[in-house]
Amino acid sequence: MQRNTKLYETVAALMASGKGILAADESDGTAGKRLAMVRLENTPENRQDFRELLFTAPNIEKYLSGVIMFDSSIRNETDDGVLFADVLTAKGIVPGIKVDRGTRALQGFKDEEITQGLDDLDNRFAEYYDLGARFAKWRMVVTIDEDKTPTYEAVRMNCVMMTRYAQLAQAAGIVPIVEPEVIHAGDHSLEKAELETTRTLQILFQTLQEYRVDLAGLILKSSMVLAGDRYQNQTSAEEVAQATLRTFHMSVPHETGGIVFLSGGQSPKRATENLNAIAKLGAQPWPITYSFSRAIEEPFLNAWAGKSENSQKAQEVLLETCKQNSLAAQGKL
Ligand code: 13P
Repeated sequence: MQRNTKLYETVAALMASGKGILAADESDGTAGKRLAMVRLENTPENRQDFRELLFTAPNIEKYLSGVIMFDSSIRNETDDGVLFADVLTAKGIVPGIKVDRGTRALQGFKDEEITQGLDDLDNRFAEYYDLGARFAKWRMVVTIDEDKTPTYEAVRMNCVMMTRYAQLAQAAGIVPIVEPEVIHAGDHSLEKAELETTRTLQILFQTLQEYRVDLAGLILKSSMVLAGDRYQNQTSAEEVAQATLRTFHMSVPHETGGIVFLSGGQSPKRATENLNAIAKLGAQPWPITYSFSRAIEEPFLNAWAGKSENSQKAQEVLLETCKQNSLAAQGKL
């Protein structure tokens, strides 16, 4: 296998102890949902204001190792004309880029989805590298219910495509984050979530290894193992932590560069508490931290409310949220 030490340096920077990754990679459409939370219109100007406030917040580099952007935001710049990627790099934060192009229905497979975005990806990676990106993200979706299990064929096809993405990323000197998201919405039990997350991760890592992806130069972005949001009994942070780590020990090879969590629609408080409970279980074979979107952005958006007089306060809220998650990633809450 061809090894690329630059990839390991990027992995080490992203997984630095006490830091995490901000997933600010909403597509323009999804960014509109965030802005709608504070009754802002989904215009390019509002999206720019939103991202500029996030990325220029003083001292976020103390708690953030990386920021994932979207195609339109990695090309975007501050009011002063500095590319967002350059703002981040100057702070020592690694710029990242979401490269999948969302999901589509998988023909012949009821309610199952396939992630697309492989077309021309080698050329896109070359351009993103020039724009400053040193890591990337590709998300696939696994939707479960207590009596609904994804087919092997759909999971495997998604994993093969994700693996192809990971190969192309590494060839371009870009660390791939692979994100199989087991969706939190549903009526499934914690046990069902554990079973399906373990199965998905086993298929994914088997595929990555078959196609000789260098796992030390790759990061897994995983859901926490959670009972569905409509399940009758909600589970404690300790139960979530135990189930999540059992899952990883059954499926994630130890050489994998690191594991980061998505928040998946949990409240910001719950995501942080669960992360803290996971870290409290002690050192694991992989560094583990957060890569939240909603759980970091929601408190910020509520403080900002789209008003310039609230900008400073919102940036302080962002810093505090990142600090709490950084402490949680070390089990220090
Ligand atoms: P959430 O933390 O809001 O789940 O988003 C993380 C992410 O990157 C989704 O793809």
